[in-house]
Amino acid sequence: MAGASPMWEAMWAKGLRPKEAFDVGGPSPTLAEVLAKGSLGAGVGKCALVPGCGRAYDALALAEYGFERVVAVDLAPTAVEAAKQFLASCGNPAAARVEMQCANFFEMKLEPKADVIWDCTFLCALDPSARTDWARKMGELLEPEGTLITCIFPICDKEGGPPFAMSVPLVKGLLEPAGFRAAELREDAARHTAGGMAAGTALGLWTKAAGR
Ligand SMILES: C[S@@+](CC[C@H](N)C(=O)[O-])C[C@H]1O[C@@H](n2cnc3c(N)ncnc32)[C@H](O)[C@@H]1O
Repeated sequence: MAGASPMWEAMWAKGLRPKEAFDVGGPSPTLAEVLAKGSLGAGVGKCALVPGCGRAYDALALAEYGFERVVAVDLAPTAVEAAKQFLASCGNPAAARVEMQCANFFEMKLEPKADVIWDCTFLCALDPSARTDWARKMGELLEPEGTLITCIFPICDKEGGPPFAMSVPLVKGLLEPAGFRAAELREDAARHTAGGMAAGTALGLWTKAAGR
């Protein structure tokens, strides 16, 4: 099925270690920069979602920031096990607020919906034929006026993937027709780094239009 490739479980099942391939070994510097600004509405009753969460470092950072519930979803059972092990051993009490789910993002349900969704190297991991569904599903999983935050990475000229090359116009062209408007778009965001790739990073904060 487009967007739910068995290659992910195969990759994780080989024993993907922290800091190997796409695994940063900790929270994305791009997310850390967003959280340091303190402008996301978190707190009691607020929910964040991290699709394609891998080892869930970013989910933990969102819980520590103050989201009461953080739903972290990965298709690969071995990724979910690795994330659970990380959360159980990290010694951070915020880990108790991270809810791990092994699910296909395109088929998942979430009630109540998320106030914030963080996409970090998830869109670039998907087959390009799944991109329109990615944008539609993001809209379905967010509260009206909720915020989708996209780490737009890797910005480069490479052919093929994953990761597939990303760009700000590409992401804008997916999200605007799906009812999102850009609240903030920055090409000078703190650089995400993964797999030693020398690629650019941009940051997008997208508001879901009310009534969509
Ligand atoms: C490039 S990795 C990024 C992982 C994590 N965001 C990080 O930065 O470490 C993409 C992740 O998305 C997961 N994934 C791929 N397709 C998925 C789907 N349809 N639903 C949920 N997770 C998926 C993969 O198993 C993989 O762990």
